[in-house]
Amino acid sequence: MKNLIIATTNRGKFAELKPLLTGHFQEIYSLADFSETLTVVEDGLYYAENAMKKARKVGGHFGMPALADDSGLEVAALNGRPGIHSSRYGQNDGERINRLLGELDGIPWDGREAKFKAYVALYLPEKDRCYVFYGELSGFIGFEKHGSNGFGYDPVFYSPELGTYLAEISTEEKNRLSHRGRAIALLRKFVETI
Ligand code: IMP
Repeated sequence: MKNLIIATTNRGKFAELKPLLTGHFQEIYSLADFSETLTVVEDGLYYAENAMKKARKVGGHFGMPALADDSGLEVAALNGRPGIHSSRYGQNDGERINRLLGELDGIPWDGREAKFKAYVALYLPEKDRCYVFYGELSGFIGFEKHGSNGFGYDPVFYSPELGTYLAEISTEEKNRLSHRGRAIALLRKFVETI
């Protein structure tokens, strides 16, 4: 088994990803475990492009397999916004959620359909190759916040499949069906074959 670095400093994401990968890699690091700051500008037009860019840069720099995820929330009534700009929709999670709720003001439940998308890239330096895996989760944006678990837009994302808002359930429950959980399940299958 090899070590893996997860190309993120986002604690929420790392906390979700690590348990999903334990058993498939020896040591699992995040960028926060290293003192040097490695800046990757997420200027791609597509999630997969950003994920591959991050994984390549970080894996190349540290000389170990690297995993990067680029994800976002797409709301149909907002023509897919915030989409690729999900992490930059405000200064912090609270601001981002308030902006989203403001933009959906007056829209009834059945017009509040949304989808989380996750593209996870795995860069293997010894092969100089990147592999990309995709997962999605459909749901609705609620009218107010519910729960305090998770991160990002979790408090306003209702999943009919899970029967709850994402911030009301544990990481394990969320991982079972989430966009990221689904993408990582595919990645795990791939890792088992190599
Ligand atoms: P990035 O992939 O780091 O560019 O960030 C994607 C952004 O999408 C995050 O900062 C969150 O705002 C949002 N996001 C992605 N996945 C989730 C999730 O599972 N729950 C809540 N928000 C998410």
